[in-house]
Amino acid sequence: MDTASGTQQPAVDPPVDGGQFAIEDMAAYARQVARGDTVLIFDTTLRDGEQSPGATLDDHEKLELARQLSRLGVDILETGFPIASPGDWKAVHRVAETVGRETRVGQDGSPLPPPVIAGLARANRKDIERAFTATEPAVRPRIHTFIATSDIHLEHKLRMSRNEVLETVGEMVEYAVSLCGDVEFSPEDAGRSDIEYLKQVLEVAIQAGATTLNIPDTVGYTQPKEYEALFRALIEGTPGGRDVIFSTHTHNDLGLATANTLAAVSAGARQVEVTINGIGERAGNSSLEEFVMGLYTRPQFYNLRTNVQTQEIHRTSDMVSRYTGMVIQPNKAIVGANAFAHEAGIHQDGVLKHKRTYEIMDAETVGLNQHRQGLVLGKHSGRHALRTRLDELGYHMEPAELNEIFSSFKELADKKKTVTDADLEALVADEVYQPKETWELVNVQVQCGSNLTPTAVVILRRLDSGEEVTDAGFGTGPVDAVYQGINRIVGVENTLVEFVVQAVTAGMDANGDVTIRIEVPDRGRDMVETAQGRVRRRLFSGRGVDTDIIVASAKAYLQALNKQIASEAEAAPLGSMI
Ligand code: KIV
Ligand code: ZN
Repeated sequence: MDTASGTQQPAVDPPVDGGQFAIEDMAAYARQVARGDTVLIFDTTLRDGEQSPGATLDDHEKLELARQLSRLGVDILETGFPIASPGDWKAVHRVAETVGRETRVGQDGSPLPPPVIAGLARANRKDIERAFTATEPAVRPRIHTFIATSDIHLEHKLRMSRNEVLETVGEMVEYAVSLCGDVEFSPEDAGRSDIEYLKQVLEVAIQAGATTLNIPDTVGYTQPKEYEALFRALIEGTPGGRDVIFSTHTHNDLGLATANTLAAVSAGARQVEVTINGIGERAGNSSLEEFVMGLYTRPQFYNLRTNVQTQEIHRTSDMVSRYTGMVIQPNKAIVGANAFAHEAGIHQDGVLKHKRTYEIMDAETVGLNQHRQGLVLGKHSGRHALRTRLDELGYHMEPAELNEIFSSFKELADKKKTVTDADLEALVADEVYQPKETWELVNVQVQCGSNLTPTAVVILRRLDSGEEVTDAGFGTGPVDAVYQGINRIVGVENTLVEFVVQAVTAGMDANGDVTIRIEVPDRGRDMVETAQGRVRRRLFSGRGVDTDIIVASAKAYLQALNKQIASEAEAAPLGSMI
């Protein structure tokens, strides 16, 4: 499937090869950005965001998200950590040779270059080579290399002296520059590093050819005033600092990630590393939508701009939540379900009299109302109406995909009076974006009640052979009974660690949207290594939508199981990743 323009951008059809946008002189480009008023958006949803426990994405999901992030207008897409696994390398490479080569349309209708495609690498040759080969097909590839600089990391993690780290930075940045003109360097845990040492490290990186210097608050420890002062001191105090792009990278351990990011751009940072919905390691990263809408809503205060198409924010947020299985809290700024809802009578009265009494932004600006309340389709709507609406929503279906989605749409329309945009997007996610499936749900029937042991009969189809298998399960409740029945057929071990049901739309006939997370037993091969070198157990998420929440629960479980099965088939022993 190919996605195309959303509500704001005209379509680029077919995608124009963005070859003419290659950056010939990185140093001149960096100087220009450093002196300008545009803040570059470096999206790391597909790398730091994917490090959220359970947010694992397969390469198909990464590609679809990369397309949407590109349509959103991000300048740089960090797509993964290519050394981590062959799957990560492949996903980054796929995005580089597609999204990384396609011209976009900017806010004023003029062509916008394809996003820079960045791959993360520790400061060693093997990591850097893998990041280079993965990103190379992009018109604008970038190697993002990092090494820790705080004493606590040097002493306990790296077991290296300050001089050894300095030497490594010089050698590895120079090596990365010999492969790729665009190199970003990050002193990990910069927020807790000695500032004079940090200046020395950054000077060495600049001399070796890095044109973007990222200052990570890796553990979310720094306060906004401190982070702002750190940027001023580094930009002014590092030889060559005024000619390169300084970048923020903040974590939300104390709930300050976005505040820190905004503070740093006031001090001269011209790149921000952010994620959609603020997902990321532990408490997450600075959220793209909060940062962008901060600048957008307070233009006089910041006097800075971004290339983001704000009307695409809501759709992107929904998509990230669906694919990662990370549910958005209702009170989340900008994209939470309550972000634009007024409950108190006094607020409702004020908003009706004058919108600005309690609303500082329009919901339409972030693509909310047109997204949620678009043209309503029903059971009399035909294939043409469905295709037109899907096109308007930015989903261009191949004929076979349209057929598939049309029959699910008809089934849904028979059960529900109206099928909204939100229902359609859930159907697309549910029907078209299934990860490499092994098993498919054919039928499920449940018996339960006050004095009954919940019992389920489940029929699944094996997609490779077409064989249908029937079995039954008993459980503590109807969902448990269904899961026991599925387990007897599929025969893989896991533990259900999260189960969330939400209504996609309002009303008695609403679609139920079930998100689950399963944890697999520790057998070594299901462990993943993060960029920080921590090893942790892999979780898999699944999502299913249906008017019947038992069926939605079965679909969600099967999606997670299919991911687990695919990962077990592909997984390399951990030793080969390091
Ligand atoms: O938080 C961090 O320090 C990182 C680096 C790898 C940039 O994610
Ligand atoms: Zn990080």
